[in-house]
Amino acid sequence: MRYLVTGGAGYVGSVCAAHLLAAGHEVTVLDDLSTGFREGVPLGATFVEGRVQDASRWLDASYDGVLHFAACSQVGESVTDPEKYWRNNVGGTIELLAAMRRAGVRRLVFSSTAAVYGEPASVPIQEAAATVPTNPYGATKLAVDHMITGECAAHGLAAASLRYFNVAGAHGAYGERHDPESHLIPLVLQVALGRRESISVYGSDYPTPDGTCVRDYIHVSDLAEAHLLALTAVQPGSHLICNLGNGNGFSVREVIETVRKVTGHPVPEAAAPRRAGDPAVLVASAAAARELLGWEPRRADLAGIVSDAWEFARGVAR
Ligand SMILES: NC(=O)c1ccc[n+]([C@@H]2O[C@H](COP(=O)([O-])OP(=O)(O)OC[C@H]3O[C@@H](n4cnc5c(N)ncnc54)[C@H](O)[C@@H]3O)[C@@H](O)[C@H]2O)c1
Repeated sequence: MRYLVTGGAGYVGSVCAAHLLAAGHEVTVLDDLSTGFREGVPLGATFVEGRVQDASRWLDASYDGVLHFAACSQVGESVTDPEKYWRNNVGGTIELLAAMRRAGVRRLVFSSTAAVYGEPASVPIQEAAATVPTNPYGATKLAVDHMITGECAAHGLAAASLRYFNVAGAHGAYGERHDPESHLIPLVLQVALGRRESISVYGSDYPTPDGTCVRDYIHVSDLAEAHLLALTAVQPGSHLICNLGNGNGFSVREVIETVRKVTGHPVPEAAAPRRAGDPAVLVASAAAARELLGWEPRRADLAGIVSDAWEFARGVAR
């Protein structure tokens, strides 16, 4: 099959593109390199430097589907510069959907996020939970989910929105390097690499076993496998929505302790006050992905996730 991968020079897109290529598919990466890296585009993929907003210049009937990763995804920035998020995430997807319609490309997998749920009333979070995003980033992703539902109903698109929890780990040379970095595992690894003095622990009085926040970490290769399954599971006129997480939570302290064990570095901590809007526990129910996609996470072990991320981080640092 021939797939267009938007955002394939970024973290998740590059790993998914690598998995698509390994499965024998033909891949074109469309990325404007705003937060991605040219060297992130996997060997064997065709690279087009350009914007999703201009997808109609490259998309034609020879494509079997689109995997849409391209987006702005920094929660903090979305609060200070919301219009950038509406313009790129929502505006970009409107143009992409139009380009797909014109080209007759009728299969889409979209990167949605747990941020669409906001602060959950109960955990594990199911897809039927209320969607009350607490920041513009989550709001733009929810708006795109709604747009896709309408596109499926009106124009027969076959689509899936996959709502990722905390994506982590690496796939060989393809891994996470956001700037600024806001995700816990790469931040703790920066301490282990000597790039940061300590790791801030925001709040240690949450109602969790060790008082620190609990999050659901999913290995990026498990996530990629779910995308491949979603490409075959989608049906014309219907919009599949699935959470992607392990269904297991790990606390901030457990992550730090695991990084200490994996890297052999002491990793000093710095106590910091709670951050506004940080729920105590965010864990996915992955039942829908198991049932509808036949997906099973195979790399759920935290030490394995951290170890792959560490290999990648050391490679980048060299
Ligand atoms: N990393 C996570 O934990 C996580 C969690 C939930 C959802 N997501 C979603 O997954 C997707 C990928 O996230 P990531 O962590 O790989 O981010 P990333 O920043 O590494 O990758 C995004 C890529 O999209 C490109 N891009 C952005 N806007 C573009 C545009 N208009 N046209 C062309 N290219 C554009 C960037 O250059 C970058 O290469 C995003 O949609 C994000 O919202 C990520």
